Amino acid sequence: MNVRLGLIGFGRHLRRYLLPNIIGAERLRIQAVAEPQPDLRAEAADRLAGVTTFADGAELMASGLVDAVVISTGPDSHVPLAAEALRHGLHVFVEKPLGTNGDDVRVLAREAAGRGLVGMNGMMWRWAPATTVLGRWLTNRTTDLMTVTVTLPRIDLRPAWRGDWRLGLLETAFYDAFIHPVDWATLFLNPVVGVHTTVVAADEERGRVVATVRLRDTTGSACVLSMVTGSAAYQVGAWGDLTDGGLWDVDTLQRITVTEQPTWTGTPGGMRDRATLRWEPGQLYRGWGRQGYAEEFTAFADAVLDGGPADNFAAVAHTLDVLAAAIRSVHEGAEVSVEPVLAGS
Ligand SMILES: NC(=O)c1ccc[n+]([C@@H]2O[C@H](COP(=O)([O-])OP(=O)(O)OC[C@H]3O[C@@H](n4cnc5c(N)ncnc54)[C@H](O)[C@@H]3O)[C@@H](O)[C@H]2O)c1
Repeated sequence: MNVRLGLIGFGRHLRRYLLPNIIGAERLRIQAVAEPQPDLRAEAADRLAGVTTFADGAELMASGLVDAVVISTGPDSHVPLAAEALRHGLHVFVEKPLGTNGDDVRVLAREAAGRGLVGMNGMMWRWAPATTVLGRWLTNRTTDLMTVTVTLPRIDLRPAWRGDWRLGLLETAFYDAFIHPVDWATLFLNPVVGVHTTVVAADEERGRVVATVRLRDTTGSACVLSMVTGSAAYQVGAWGDLTDGGLWDVDTLQRITVTEQPTWTGTPGGMRDRATLRWEPGQLYRGWGRQGYAEEFTAFADAVLDGGPADNFAAVAHTLDVLAAAIRSVHEGAEVSVEPVLAGS
């Protein structure tokens, strides 16, 4: 059995990044596409044989043709369209950012759970193979201190480039770009209770924000994120110091090294020799620009058909709480608390 899928928003991101991975997910069948722009609707009909097209997502959701939808419209419509999909009894995969308000997403999480539907937000770093492997290697181990360094491309605030949600440079940097590393960092921490941000540079003309964010979790573990938009490079690096003295290191979400301590010779770990576990994807992996996209759609299909761990609305709500605190911290010039909100509350 397959999932009959509707695509809502046939824009740039869906066509370039998501579509090959949706087609590649064996248990997903694209049945319908909704897109207001006639040229893109025509392209969808041309590229996807037998698909039914609609001029608006609402018509697609009411059509009865699909079991689930992928929403890849502009960010300001994600929460209302996801809510509408759940009301129609449809499983929903919605692109990031899932709005800017954790409470809105907790409402969606409750609605999805109450109706027995899958609600998944496309935070693809969560599904990157490197994340999965690292998570498995770190089971039952605690990271005391973690640093994440990320440089991302420029942010363009013009309406043609997702500027239609009317957020300023700083907010756009956090909700559109920094959301990925912050969400990823929360995977290796307990719930975050304190956030302190320092903005080093902000330049609207160049779409550039340079910031550090320090996260503190319920057990006192800390993470320092150094993040840049407006960089020439898209680069991701992270390392973590484990309570037991081990060190993990992730390069571009492509390579992982875990150095154990003490080493087998009994010398101080890493001084004379480095007892390490290493992982990197093989030659057949589809590549870094699409890290996690293939895996997230397979996980979505599996969750719809078999049940599974793809539901992440409650976790993403926490990420949005952390981002809101990070922005408040800029204005207050101090650490800001995050209230732990339980998933079911
Ligand atoms: N996961 C990632 O790293 C990543 C990367 C880039 C973009 N995105 C997200 O993907 C989303 C889309 O970005 P984009 O660059 O493709 O934007 P885009 O403007 O090119 O595409 C959005 C499309 O949705 C259509 N649309 C708007 N309202 C609609 C409705 N009610 N029903 C059906 N279609 C509707 C628009 O006509 C447009 O074609 C954004 O939310 C963005 O944040 C995610």
